[in-house]
Amino acid sequence: MKPAEQKLIDQTVEFLKEKFASDSTGHDWWHLYRVWQLAKHIAASEKGCDPLVVELGALLHDIADFKFHNNDLSAGPKAAREWLSGLGAQPGVVEQVCHIVENVSYKGAGVANKMKSLEGKIVQDADRLDAIGAIGIARVFAFSGAHQRLIHDPDIQPQLHEDFDAYATATPTAVNHFYEKLLLLKDRMNTQTGKQMASSRHLFMENYLKEFYAEWDGQK
Ligand code: ADP
Ligand code: NI
Repeated sequence: MKPAEQKLIDQTVEFLKEKFASDSTGHDWWHLYRVWQLAKHIAASEKGCDPLVVELGALLHDIADFKFHNNDLSAGPKAAREWLSGLGAQPGVVEQVCHIVENVSYKGAGVANKMKSLEGKIVQDADRLDAIGAIGIARVFAFSGAHQRLIHDPDIQPQLHEDFDAYATATPTAVNHFYEKLLLLKDRMNTQTGKQMASSRHLFMENYLKEFYAEWDGQK
């Protein structure tokens, strides 16, 4: 990485550490840190990707997530463009990062993935890995609590959303979010490394849910 590129990354890290310091929905600075580390790990096995775009995309992917901006999907790319242009990043890099920020998010079980670039596919896998496994379990309950939602209600069935609007306006219980998103992710990974890492995290969630239901009915 050239010194000017490293400086872009360092400045972005400083900015995000401050901006995301006190988030309690599971989208705090340490989520960005983990996605950044995961993306670098996945990128090491993917030939031909641009490491600067991978790192900036991973760091900035949640800069203005639709969930926290009235479901406005354009808020993320707009904020990323403003930040990177302000630092004097090359226009090509800015466009590539904006493509990632715009398309990274899961938008419902029946909604097609529009991520086109290899760098974007890497960042998307990294973000999805942080939504599953032990950390994913912690994050789903943190998110649900922060949004005043129930842990579980056996009378409410999970929904597989066919469009973004239905997904974005739903208020599922934490346990139903496993069926509406988390357990679907392993079959939607883009890279070989992502697929491998997702399979052990997936198994951990399945075992967790088995324990959860056993305790629920007083059998354990
Ligand atoms: P993505 O980058 O794939 O869009 P999100 O930012 O939507 O990921 O979600 C990250 C994590 O936040 C989820 O994996 C989950 O833990 C939590 N989360 C998001 N939406 C919900 C929800 N409706 N209910 C519970 N947790 C949620
Ligand atoms: Ni994220």
